[in-house]
Amino acid sequence: MELQGKNIVLGVTGGIAAYKAAELVRLLLGQGAAVQVAMTEAATHFVTPVTFQALSGKPVFTDQWDSRVANNMAHIDLSRTADALLVAPASADFLAKVAHGLADDLLTALVLARNCPLLVAPAMNRQMWDNPATARNLATLRGDGVSVLGPASGGQACGETGLGRMLEAEEIVAELIAFFQPKLLAGKRVLLTAGPTFEAVDPVRGITNLSSGKMGYAIARAAREAGADVTLVSGPVDLASPPGVERIRVSSALQMRDAVQQHVAHCDVFVAVAAVADYRPANPSPQKIKKGQQAKPPAIELVQNPDILAEVAALPNPPLCVGFAAESENLHEYAESKRRSKKIPLIVGNLIHHGFGGDDNTLTLFDDKGRHPLPPAPKLELARQIVARIAILLEKP
Ligand code: C5P
Repeated sequence: MELQGKNIVLGVTGGIAAYKAAELVRLLLGQGAAVQVAMTEAATHFVTPVTFQALSGKPVFTDQWDSRVANNMAHIDLSRTADALLVAPASADFLAKVAHGLADDLLTALVLARNCPLLVAPAMNRQMWDNPATARNLATLRGDGVSVLGPASGGQACGETGLGRMLEAEEIVAELIAFFQPKLLAGKRVLLTAGPTFEAVDPVRGITNLSSGKMGYAIARAAREAGADVTLVSGPVDLASPPGVERIRVSSALQMRDAVQQHVAHCDVFVAVAAVADYRPANPSPQKIKKGQQAKPPAIELVQNPDILAEVAALPNPPLCVGFAAESENLHEYAESKRRSKKIPLIVGNLIHHGFGGDDNTLTLFDDKGRHPLPPAPKLELARQIVARIAILLEKP
């Protein structure tokens, strides 16, 4: 229920992606938002107002001269109680009109008369998207403070492939949720590690740690929502990259360390969430080790992996470093001693029977001011609290 209490006016313009707006209404309601739909006349050729009325539970507005509005000012009234005006799909024609301040139908008049933020999810043929006129209009809209969501690249209804596809409904909802978060890390660069590492024994076997990657991915998402520029170095996990986050996939601890070293120079914050394998096989076999070819089961000689977090913390001009301590007992003692030995300002501790692999967790933050227990909550909620604590620590002189 990330949009509980929010009033969203959803504008739908004429494009084949209008069918995705029906799913968008469902998802917005599922997050607790109230949705009022307004359609252009062109949009009604793709999906009927009845569809949106049935889904949103509210009458749909399509024209300026709607007799249901006593004062005949739907274009004013609709935006006054809205927290955001979201237009999805936003056609090239609609974007051009808004960029020039035209208001010749209900939706464009509503946009011009609004007193709430405007977000648009463009959807059009790739040539229309690439047209310099569209690029000019988009630049104008961005300059006016309009948030542009997407578009994505891929197959288009016309059979062509390229930029111009509307984002999927789930992605638009994620962007809207992000939009409402406080921008505590605006202008900051955040680098994270997440997931396990995999240390090869031979081409089909290896040593790894149990880690779903969910906590690290949640922090990457929360940091992005807070306005940061986020790079996520991820071990092998089965999770989608959070929207707007640059993800670098790695497998072993050495690859993770290389990727971190390549990106650490300009970052303000480094959050090490990855469950890095402490050891790796000294001599991984290039061929599959065959069973029963040796008299004894083969022994695996191990060497220690570098401590990526400690290395970053020891840089001459380190970013604000945040570590994780997953312990099965004595959490406070171990987490605090880890914080001191790695010389980092903030460590996030959790007991491993809490939240391993699940969507919820119970955490305790340890910093110079002491410990701050965070009650059980979904990982994204906890991630936002960690981001808030990072923002406080960044402000310290
Ligand atoms: O020393 P320990 O592995 O318990 O410390 C955990 C913290 O250190 C986590 O933040 C983890 O991501 C980081 N770490 C690391 N490189 C390692 C081992 C741990 O960055 N080789």
